[in-house]
Formats: sequence, C-alpha cells, structure tokens
Amino acid sequence: MEDFIFYNPTKILFGREQLNNLAKEIKKYGSKVLLAYGGGSIKKNGIYDNVVRVLREEDIEFFELSGIEPNPRVDSAREGAKIIKENGIDFVLAVGGGSVVDCSKLIVAAAKTDADAWDIVIKKHKVREALPLGVVLTLSATGSEMDAGSVITNLETREKLDWGSALVRPKFSILNPEHTYSVNKWHTAAGVADIMSHTMENYFTTYDDCYLQDSFAEGILKTCVKYAKDAIEDPQNYEARANLMWSNTWAINGLLESGKDTDWSVHAMEHELSAYYDITHGVGLAILTPRWLEHVLNENTKSKVARFAKEVFAIDGEDEMEVAKKGITALHDFFVGLGIPMTLREVGIDDEHLKEMAENTIKHVGGPIDGFQQLNVEDVLEIYKKSL
Ligand code: NZQ
Ligand code: ZN
Repeated sequence: MEDFIFYNPTKILFGREQLNNLAKEIKKYGSKVLLAYGGGSIKKNGIYDNVVRVLREEDIEFFELSGIEPNPRVDSAREGAKIIKENGIDFVLAVGGGSVVDCSKLIVAAAKTDADAWDIVIKKHKVREALPLGVVLTLSATGSEMDAGSVITNLETREKLDWGSALVRPKFSILNPEHTYSVNKWHTAAGVADIMSHTMENYFTTYDDCYLQDSFAEGILKTCVKYAKDAIEDPQNYEARANLMWSNTWAINGLLESGKDTDWSVHAMEHELSAYYDITHGVGLAILTPRWLEHVLNENTKSKVARFAKEVFAIDGEDEMEVAKKGITALHDFFVGLGIPMTLREVGIDDEHLKEMAENTIKHVGGPIDGFQQLNVEDVLEIYKKSL
C-alpha cells in the first residue's frame, strides 16, 4: 500500500428533508447565486420549483443558466462565467446530474479568470481561484458531487477531456434519493454501469495488498448488483435509490483509490466514444468493460478477476481462470439484464473511426495506459473491435 493523504471536505446532506438546509448552506458562502441546470428535467419533476421556493423564501437573489447538455460543452461553461461576471454573482448552485455538476465546476473556475474556459480544461491555465459551488444531485452515476474532477466536451476539436482542481470541489452536496425517482430506465442503468466502472477502475489494479479498499469496492459492486433492477422496475423504491446514490458517491471520492496508483483504462477509452459519437457515458463503459477484462485476463491478472467473480457474483470453482471467465460473462449478462445495448453498433458506432479513437485514447492519456495491464494503441483498437 502506497502512502496517501485522504482529505475530502465536501459536506454531504443525505435524505428526504435536506433541501430544508439549502439556504443555510448557501449563505455560508454567498448571497447572489447562479442556478445552473440541464435540459428541463428539473422543471418536469418539481425539483426546480422546490429549489426556487427556498431561494425566494430566504431572499437569495439568483440568476439562471439552463440547457447544460449531457456530455457538457465548453460553450455552456463560457456562458455561465459570462453571466457571473456581468452580474457580480458569488455562488453557483448546480442542480442536476454529473453533466450539470461538471460544467458548474468549470464555470466556478472560469468566472475567476480572463483565461478561456477551454484553456483550463487543457491545463494551459492553472486554476488558482474559484467561486464556491453547491450541488443538488438528481442522478446517481458520476460521483461528481464529492470529487474534484470534471469532464468537458469541445465539439470543435472533437475532444472530451477530464481536468480537476481541489478548488472546484463542491462545498456541499444535497443527496435526496427521491430526486432520482424520475430518472428513466436508460439513465438509471447507465448510472449503475458508471458507478460500477468507477469502482472497478479502482479495484482492478496490480496492488494485492489493499484488502480493505478492495473489500469496500466489492461492497459497492454488490450493492449495485442487488439494487439496480429494483430501481429500474420500481423507480420510486427509496431503499434501492438510496443505496445506489450513496454507492455513487463513495465509488469515486478518493476512498477506493487510497494507497494505490490507479490508471483508469476503460474511462480513457470511453471518453473517445462520447467525444466522437455523443453516446451516454455509462452505456459506453458497460459495453467496453467486459471486453477490456477479457483482453487483460492472463496468468498475472486471473486471481483478481476470480476474486471479483467470487465476491460479486458468488461464482465458485477451483480453477481461477475458469472462475474469472465466468465472472466476466456474469458482468456482461448483468448489464444485458439492465437493458443496456451491449454492442457499439447498437449505439450507432461502426468501424470508421476506431483507429483514430484508439490513437487519441493513448494521446490523451499521454502514453500507454499503465493500468491492470498495460494498453497501447493496438490493445485499445482490439478492445474496440471486440465491442463492435
Ligand atoms: O438535462 P436534463 O434535462 O437535466 O436531463 C438529464 C440528462 O438528459 C437527465 N436527468 C438528470 N436527472 C434527472 C434526469 N431525468 C429525469 N429525472 C432526473 N432526476 O439525465 C440525462 C443525463 O444526465 P447527465 O448529467 O448527463 O448524466 P450523468 O450524471 O451520468 O453525467 C454524465 C457526465 O459526467 C461525466 C461523463 O463523462 C458525462 O459527461 N463524468 C464525470 C465524472 C466526474 N466528474 O468525476 C466521472 C465520470 O466518470 C464521468 O466521466
Ligand atoms: Zn464514469
């Protein structure tokens, strides 16, 4: 286990009544708010009305930025920063899923500089200051509500890149599982795949001495397996929504990766798919993950995959390689059971750009991916082809 510092100061307010604390939390940091949200789901499910009622009752002045896209665009962040500068806004409240939160992270950083927002993403401009950010989460998937990362798309350059800064980590996040009742089957399933992928990116490493972190990871994976179907078939099942929401947060808030160097293989490959084809992030991950595991399964990696199979899918057997293979099949079938299309062709991706995307994967990571098993351009290309 490597040395590590674990520090995650985001305050979590979890449960049905936590919106009652929204004004109190905002007032600790600011008085003029930019309310940032997506394409309108919060207006349909009533969350917008509830948030706005709180702001009005507490005399908190607010401006709005709506229409933040899934796979959020840098243009939306530019617009948000502009509204802030023009109106002397001192706090951003993101109400939505990971896309709204990620875009808001770029907004709070871009609002404090004259540099272009994209320069922050490509790390040409270092973030030295940011406005405070608060979150009302409406979808369980990315963990962005308690991490310092953000993923932004630039349509002009066909890039989807991640960046991060401790300065943009949310000050607080309100997690009310009821806020996810209206998430449809597609995004619920994709969200589960994303949570599981974050967990697996931290779990499948070359470290075999982080038993505690790996056991936490197995707990999260088992929770997803236990509750995903319930949330899909019975969207207002509080127990299922609550367990998924809390899993989502812990999959990527630093706990699972503590003591390890992790090099996220599947996310690097998926971000290219989203950049080129604008597909749902979690669906791309679900398609790639079993093919990636098949590709990296060998004598060195089989024990860990077999442990996964045994712990998460209760697969028994003497031969580790056989157990590992059954575990990969079980993962694939689990995603099928959630209604996720499990081939790239089904989500509109053919072989036209596979080579280009494989080259970009490695380019954006800055060399071979040193994960569970090293991947170069040829490996990524093969995994893409297996996923067709
Ligand atoms: O835009 P609206 O109308 O709000 O609709 C959204 C969107 O269409 C809808 N939705 C959200 N909450 C809802 C709801 N619909 C009904 N009821 C609700 N309560 O769901 C759709 C998808 O929303 P989005 O925010 O895009 O989904 P998600 O939370 O999965 O975020 C995906 C983005 O996060 C990035 C992904 O790459 C992708 O761009 N990621 C961010 C990470 C991070 N910051 O740490 C890590 C992840 O690995 C990931 O890469
Ligand atoms: Zn993800």
